[in-house]
Amino acid sequence: MSALYPLGLRLAGRTVVVVGGGAVAARRASSLVDAGAIVTVVAPEASAELRALLAIGAVTWRERAYLTGDLNGAWLAHTATGVPDVDALVSADAEAARIWCVNASDRHEATAWVPAVTRRDDVTVSVSTGGDPRRAMALRDAIGVAFDTGSLPLRHHRRAAGAGTVHLVGGGPGAPDLITTRGRRLLAEADVVVADRLGPRSLLRELGEDVLVIDVGKLPGHHPVPQDEINALLVEHAQAGKRVVRLKGGDPYVLGRGGEEADYCRRHGVTVEVVPGVTSAISVPAAAGIPVTHRGVANGFSVVTGHEEIAGLPGGRDHTVVLLMGVTALRGSAKALASTARGADCPVAIIEDGYGDGQRVTIGTLSNIAAQAKARGVRSPAVVVIGDVVSLSPYAEASHSQPTTTAQIPALARKATP
Ligand SMILES: C[S@@+](CC[C@H](N)C(=O)[O-])C[C@H]1O[C@@H](n2cnc3c(N)ncnc32)[C@H](O)[C@@H]1O
Repeated sequence: MSALYPLGLRLAGRTVVVVGGGAVAARRASSLVDAGAIVTVVAPEASAELRALLAIGAVTWRERAYLTGDLNGAWLAHTATGVPDVDALVSADAEAARIWCVNASDRHEATAWVPAVTRRDDVTVSVSTGGDPRRAMALRDAIGVAFDTGSLPLRHHRRAAGAGTVHLVGGGPGAPDLITTRGRRLLAEADVVVADRLGPRSLLRELGEDVLVIDVGKLPGHHPVPQDEINALLVEHAQAGKRVVRLKGGDPYVLGRGGEEADYCRRHGVTVEVVPGVTSAISVPAAAGIPVTHRGVANGFSVVTGHEEIAGLPGGRDHTVVLLMGVTALRGSAKALASTARGADCPVAIIEDGYGDGQRVTIGTLSNIAAQAKARGVRSPAVVVIGDVVSLSPYAEASHSQPTTTAQIPALARKATP
């Protein structure tokens, strides 16, 4: 058989005749309706799927067997009756009238084939495999997954008309596979990426050479690019028609100033979408085996940055406290928390560089954690967890036989640390 010539059809407002009342015919009728076609179905009986289409008035039904002449005025025919003789007659009538015809029972007779299709935004992928529809569907699905996970070259090379966009993408705590699939896809489409110090920075290496990467990474106490300038950069590039991704660590709305960036963009007329991320406040404790809530141990948690907010925190050890950016002020925070209902012997964990090569866990209590952190040279980025949930960590158990190292807990180990 000679090769197929792939083609896209504009069917809006054009008549298509579908012969057959079963599930296949109904599925095809439904996608033809989606394409805007005027669909007439010829069948003595209608399946439940076809009845659903009839109920909403999407198709016209000739409730009888097919008759020569039913294709008059059609641009396309589709036969799926399950009766080879009827399908053959429809095919022959279509051929005589020069109407393209999909024939579900005989692919050699068919003058048109329906490929396996997947659509994302403005991209349509059609797969034909020469008569093996399940293979075509499997391939189509694999392409869909590759699309969603950003592993296809998705960059647009023609500027969209009008202004660009900003996506504030939560990149998660740093591991490249802890960003959402939506975030990953948007990164693959970006013209400009404005990146933080934390988050999945290894993904930046996968970007094309012509993608502009602006590193605005902040270190504690040292902000190379001030927030005002970050906001201005986002707007400037979007207004130049670019697709801008602001790649942020964790979740944009958790102590990440995402709200301010989104506000600034909107105030300057730039379309902005926030893509949630896996926050370090929950995921980094999990990397050390600590659930922030646990039935019978803690039924809530608060995420704060420093000891100023501590006085107003609810509960005792059954209300977990997660400190972000808390290393520098740890001594003061621990002291303030020890003076609440939690008490000085409340368990504390510090997890440095969660999911990174330098992941290390230090376990102590509110009375000794600052001294331990100093002795071990604890550094940012780190998440500090305070409350009884810390005792659930395998590291807490191991800490009874000091010193605690990541290597002692192989299931959780990223790297053996001294
Ligand atoms: C400016 S806050 C941003 C938080 C972010 N929006 C989030 O949802 O995770 C930065 C702080 O997050 C914490 N952090 C982020 N990623 C981390 C990681 N991989 N390991 C340890 N701490 C991390 C540290 O406390 C760090 O100082």
